[in-house]
Amino acid sequence: MTPIQKCLINKNTKINPVWLMRQAGRYLPEFREIRKQNPNFIKLCLNTDLASEITLQPIRRFGFDGAVIFSDILMLPYGLGQKVEFEKNFGPKLGDIDLETIRDVDEIIFSEKVYKVYKAIEKTSKDPLMSNRDMIGFVGAPWTILVYMINKSSPKKGLSDDFFKDDFLINRLLGIIEKFLKLHIKNQIEAGAQVIQIFDSWAGLLENKIPEYIYIPTLNIVDYVKKLGVPVICFPRGIKENYKDFNNLVKPDGINIDSEIDPDWAKDKLKDVVIQGGLDPRTLLKTDDEIFKGATKYIKAFKDMPYVFNLGHGLLPETDPAKVEKLINFYRSS
Ligand code: CP3
Repeated sequence: MTPIQKCLINKNTKINPVWLMRQAGRYLPEFREIRKQNPNFIKLCLNTDLASEITLQPIRRFGFDGAVIFSDILMLPYGLGQKVEFEKNFGPKLGDIDLETIRDVDEIIFSEKVYKVYKAIEKTSKDPLMSNRDMIGFVGAPWTILVYMINKSSPKKGLSDDFFKDDFLINRLLGIIEKFLKLHIKNQIEAGAQVIQIFDSWAGLLENKIPEYIYIPTLNIVDYVKKLGVPVICFPRGIKENYKDFNNLVKPDGINIDSEIDPDWAKDKLKDVVIQGGLDPRTLLKTDDEIFKGATKYIKAFKDMPYVFNLGHGLLPETDPAKVEKLINFYRSS
């Protein structure tokens, strides 16, 4: 078994694995160099050699225990035939949804559209650097994918009042999303993914209907991943004290806490689960002492427990890689 698997499945408390969300990305000059030559982000995700190279860049630098495949949660709507583009200084921009066309997409059409992601996982898993390291595959949670597909961009200002207006569309889409998320997960596992993380980045937007849009659809996916025999980590960002209900109902192997969650609260309330993450990524923009102090809070709280060190959200693009190195060295030596 690989280190993160040992922590998640065997509840081994001696390993203390570490990886960081968005560890492959814009804070690394070697990523920016490749990105400059490849202005089309989706095409870059579908370039097997480059996607694999980008996935390994942070492993080479920092020796993380897990490598998260360089891809994006929006490969799902892309595979369903929705237009997906990334605009500089704006973020993702999606096209209109055409339920007629999406309805006609079958498993073969979808898998063929994104199969290079699986090729990249396969290639990366075979790299000598990956021995005794976890290959982490991922998807967006049904709710977060639904949000992007309907809102067509990041809902930075919240959801529009008419988001839920078309009940029929929402329910049909949610069913389709769930079906293809399962396929996308199965394909990643068959290609070599050893851990699956489910990102629910916009879970915090919902005030009610949380069971309907978060707990139930995520539980369906988590049960499916468990049936495939692979450990699964959930990240329902921003749901505050609902983390407790989420954990009791969905029962993932691992749960990534966001930076708003107090680690002592998590230790007390989140039972029968391995906790991951928590440290505010903005901490890495501060002085060394502040970084070590921030990390110590988590190290102390989860001492003698199985814990996967990570952040409370993705690394910020403006992060200095030297600070990441200091954090990892500090964590490893503490
Ligand atoms: O190290 C890794 O984690 C690599 C793989 C990865 C990416 N995106 C690459 C990426 C993962 C796991 C994701 C997940 C993802 N993508 C999420 C969930 C996590 C989160 O941050 O909440 C979400 C919401 C997305 C959708 C998405 N993709 C957005 C909103 C953006 C724009 C971000 C921005 O700051 O401009 C992306 C683009 C993206 N995905 C980049 C990377 C490295 C930046 C692309 C670039 O411009 O170079």
